[in-house]
Amino acid sequence: MTDLVTTDPAEKMRLRAALIERIGGYMTAHAMGVAAELGIADLIKDGTRTSAELAAATDTHEPSLRRLLRMLAAVGLLDEPTPGRFALTDVGAQLRSDSPDSLHAFTRMFCHPLLIGSWQGLMYSTRTGKHAFDHVHGRDFYAYLAEHQDVSALFNVAMSEESRIAAAQVAAGYDFSAVRTVVDVGGGDGTLLAAILTRHPHLRGTVFDSASGVAGAPDVLRAAGLAERGEVRAGDFFAEIPGDADLYIVKSVFQDWNDDDSRTILRTCRAHMPPTATLLIIGSVLPETASTEVPIMFFTDVNMLVNSGGRERTESEFRALLTETGFTVRSVADGAAGPLSIIEASPARS
Ligand SMILES: C[S@@+](CC[C@H](N)C(=O)[O-])C[C@H]1O[C@@H](n2cnc3c(N)ncnc32)[C@H](O)[C@@H]1O
Repeated sequence: MTDLVTTDPAEKMRLRAALIERIGGYMTAHAMGVAAELGIADLIKDGTRTSAELAAATDTHEPSLRRLLRMLAAVGLLDEPTPGRFALTDVGAQLRSDSPDSLHAFTRMFCHPLLIGSWQGLMYSTRTGKHAFDHVHGRDFYAYLAEHQDVSALFNVAMSEESRIAAAQVAAGYDFSAVRTVVDVGGGDGTLLAAILTRHPHLRGTVFDSASGVAGAPDVLRAAGLAERGEVRAGDFFAEIPGDADLYIVKSVFQDWNDDDSRTILRTCRAHMPPTATLLIIGSVLPETASTEVPIMFFTDVNMLVNSGGRERTESEFRALLTETGFTVRSVADGAAGPLSIIEASPARS
């Protein structure tokens, strides 16, 4: 309905609340960032803690911390079973840093003043089509990471946390029986490669990323007992990728780049892949029209507009990029890797 509006006061209140709660989104992100920085979820762990105990442990102002905790309870991250005493909900428990399902680093990264700062340039991006990160911080996102190892390490762990479910699903669901060697292009700290090599002992693999991107990969592969079968290589996927593998995986990479850059990366892959190799693109595939079913994809799309100049793409947009760069799309499996899809392609016969 476009006409303003209902005359029913209760319905009016509901509509107002629905809008105002959405404005509170940025307040929620700030509150989550502070809670994650303070390690509130680790302090609460399985039990309950009072705001006084949490304030003492975090060196914060108790009445103010208590207000922050109540706000987090109001959005479902904490429970307040009795006044001033707090427990984690199942959603909030993901803020624990020691849980296998942790999104603690992910929360710290995406609620980081660096990214919140570039979102303040959303109007700039909307008017110009250029990414605000550069405008606000004076260089592009990955150049910034290369100069700031602390933020880069946080980003790499954040990506690893985000990838865990998809990594397990790809390792379990994709048919690796005819594959011997895998390269994960832009593979970060090797979380995906480690999941695949662990499940498939006949495979060898390489994680390929920038020097700052692969910084944590040797430790991840060693911790998984994969130092023998997993190699780490630093390089620039605009210039080269390792040759001679059967399968090339590119997960959550193209969203970072505009179409021209994405075509360059794909052409690099095409030039270095053996003609018989397979390319797997793993990432979000946007539906043709927006819906409330998959809001995160549309958040991420605008996040890319703001922070990297990249974008999420529909299936037809991926198909066009692949066809233009010398690939034939073999299949598109929607949602085959968590919420992410898997696009399988091979070098087109010339
Ligand atoms: C969004 S992250 C995804 C990481 C990983 N594939 C995952 O899904 O968790 C994009 C990756 O691309 C890497 N990257 C960016 N520019 C690169 C370049 N020029 N050459 C190689 N890797 C690059 C980043 O370091 C980062 O690890």
